[in-house]
Amino acid sequence: MESLEPNSIKVNHIDPFDDQKPGTSGLRKSTKQFEEPNYLESFIEAVFRTLPGVKGGTLVVGGDGRYGNRRAIDVILGMAAAHGLSKVITTVDGILSTPAASNLIRKRKAIGGIILSASHNSGGLHGDFGVKINAANGGPASESLTNAIYNCTKTLDRYIKIDHSQISLDSIGQYSIGDMEVMVIDGVDEYLSLMQKIFDFDQISSFISNEFPIAFDALNAVTGPYAKRLLEGLLAAPLGTVRNGVPLEDFGGCHPDPNLTYANELADLLLKGDHYAFGAACDGDGDRNMILGRGCFINPSDSLAILAANSHLVPAYQNGLSGVARSMPTSGAVDVVAKQLGIPSYETPTGWKFFGNLLDAGKITLCGEESFGTGSNHVREKDGLWAVLFWLQILAGNQITVAELVKKHWSRFGRHYYSRHDYESISSEVAHNLYDRLIKILPTLEGQLFAGQKVTKADNFSYIDPIDSSVTDKQGLRILLEDRSRVILRLSGTGTKGATLRVYLESYVSSNGDLNQDPQIALRKYILDIDSLAEISQRTCMNSPTVIT
Ligand code: G1P
Ligand code: ZN
Repeated sequence: MESLEPNSIKVNHIDPFDDQKPGTSGLRKSTKQFEEPNYLESFIEAVFRTLPGVKGGTLVVGGDGRYGNRRAIDVILGMAAAHGLSKVITTVDGILSTPAASNLIRKRKAIGGIILSASHNSGGLHGDFGVKINAANGGPASESLTNAIYNCTKTLDRYIKIDHSQISLDSIGQYSIGDMEVMVIDGVDEYLSLMQKIFDFDQISSFISNEFPIAFDALNAVTGPYAKRLLEGLLAAPLGTVRNGVPLEDFGGCHPDPNLTYANELADLLLKGDHYAFGAACDGDGDRNMILGRGCFINPSDSLAILAANSHLVPAYQNGLSGVARSMPTSGAVDVVAKQLGIPSYETPTGWKFFGNLLDAGKITLCGEESFGTGSNHVREKDGLWAVLFWLQILAGNQITVAELVKKHWSRFGRHYYSRHDYESISSEVAHNLYDRLIKILPTLEGQLFAGQKVTKADNFSYIDPIDSSVTDKQGLRILLEDRSRVILRLSGTGTKGATLRVYLESYVSSNGDLNQDPQIALRKYILDIDSLAEISQRTCMNSPTVIT
């Protein structure tokens, strides 16, 4: 029954973050944890007490369709009404990709958004759930907003909600809860219009219809409905181009992370078979992308550089880029392109939120991370399908295959051999001991030899935001060598089981060097030396990384 009076529910104090640092612009935990009584509610209460503009404001809510999505939307609607929001915009079936949410927040002038997703983590009862908070610019909540939410959770002992009958998300509709309006809209429409403004669809469509078969794997996650309408609809690719295109609550048991390990079905099609000329996949919430060509995998750092170098072929970027940015562990490939284009290139800490200020200030047009994230000033999130369209557009513009475009790029700019080695689910204690020990050793490395090269700098990366001068320190351990090679270590901020150690390896070869080696061979001496310096295999008891990218 609907009661217009907010209900104030007293709860035993719950600390939703528990031992997790507030790092992911929200909260990411096991699904089971989110099912604990009042757990989700405690976090949402802190959000509504902290987010600016709640009274009378508009909020966007939706998610990637994983188990828990629907229940979370119901909880948020009742609590939003109690906190005095004037409108919540949500979507049919609660399906809303992260980039589409970012676009809606901006277009509808919302105070922000709540995106229900644990991104690329697995879903279902035995997987993970997450609540991401986005701000009014459409981007992930800043460090200061996330910290404020975190601090608020520390003292909470009650939350408020308005009891309401369940609102149907089966189709478009308009409802109210107390004084609050609830709009259920199609979560795909506005995103498609945005893509049509950026790209030349006719050119892409005629290119792919001409013996250029493509395959897209939505990994049973949120991009299925978007990709079907984009690729099989607007671009007239054959039916069946989109694989695993229906969002499932547990992603069909697969891990919705577009890399060679978890998107192996698609990888096999492109790397072992020879039918398809282009393949791509996106992650759970649609912000990551993996690009493949016939017999070739595109390293995400190279992808960013190649997009930047060819951006004049995309209508929205034909007048040039104001600048580019990459996260610190992303290879320097895009820096080389920026230098040739005569535009600035920024190096930020890991995490999309650090691009927000640069994008808002117009300092950059494109940005990306090595973790399969690429984006532009069109929204304030990375955008998987946008990257797929960007690739198709520049292939069409060059009338060239993926492998040819990459070769052409390296022969012009040189190649950054690059690889990331992840050691997943190691004990937190082992990981922190290893990491802390390396921090202590770092100062002694400068001037010493590492992998046969002199160490020019060894530090824990610290970032001063060029726009607001805020300082973010302790962002990863860097060993920089005199020939521009780099080895970087970080502990993941998004894993939910134990700790994940990431080792990033990079070495640059100029355009007249050997451009055709296997990266694992080209990087071998760095792999061996960092293992013995940081005692990785010895301390983790793992002979090899869990995932090699
Ligand atoms: C990972 C990626 C990072 C990305 C984040 C959210 O974080 O490495 O680039 O921004 O997921 O998608 P990490 O687990 O390394 O902290
Ligand atoms: Zn994601």
